Amino acid sequence: MTVPAVAATTFAEPSKPTMNASVTPVDIKNDGPLFSSSLISPEVISILPTDYTIRPLRRSDYQRGYLDVLRVLTTVGEISEEQWNQRYDWIASRNDEYYMLVVCDGEDRIVGTGSLIVERKFIHSLGMVGHIEDIAVEKNQQGKKLGLRIIQALDFVAAQVGCYKSILDCSEPNEGFYVKCGFKRAGLEMAHYY
Ligand code: ACO
Repeated sequence: MTVPAVAATTFAEPSKPTMNASVTPVDIKNDGPLFSSSLISPEVISILPTDYTIRPLRRSDYQRGYLDVLRVLTTVGEISEEQWNQRYDWIASRNDEYYMLVVCDGEDRIVGTGSLIVERKFIHSLGMVGHIEDIAVEKNQQGKKLGLRIIQALDFVAAQVGCYKSILDCSEPNEGFYVKCGFKRAGLEMAHYY
């Protein structure tokens, strides 16, 4: 899908939406980054492949293929732009808890994503724990260290906002990836499905 070009990490000066009838115009006033761009690791930005960017999620990312990237991970379902906007706005109202970021290629297409959800506890002196969720890199972009950069960027956010650790669940075949990212096996996942 053709998408309007939008600046990578700034909220103040997003570029103008393309006036193309086939593209939903971006609501510029309502298209800031989900969380402060200052939480994006400068080191990760500096070592991405040329022309690639990493930044907080934006409301207009529906039009940049965000949900298609998630489809490499699991079923997503058919989500209309209106439904997306409702969920995005709910998440944005909790943007000290939900940190979702995207990697874009040189054509401003989303090719990777990951989320950090910050849990506030009573234990460990009001400790905060990061939950790493929904890591996905588009199939033909895998193997370029984008997954590693996403994890490094989420680790940076977690440390900056005060988490004492981050945890995640993954399948056995992905264990090696997370070990390469510095994680180690700890505990056992259990689930109840409803
Ligand atoms: N097993 C072992 N090692 C791996 C694996 C794996 N499954 N995947 C990557 N690696 C290694 C790479 O070889 C590389 O090693 P190197 O530094 O020695 O060269 C290192 O891990 C970093 O790899 P990246 O290139 O950053 O990996 P990529 O960008 O392909 O992303 C990812 C990995 C996210 C798992 C990707 O393959 C993907 O999107 N898979 C489908 C969705 C998925 O399973 N997501 C994870 C769900 S779990 C969760 O969300 C918490």
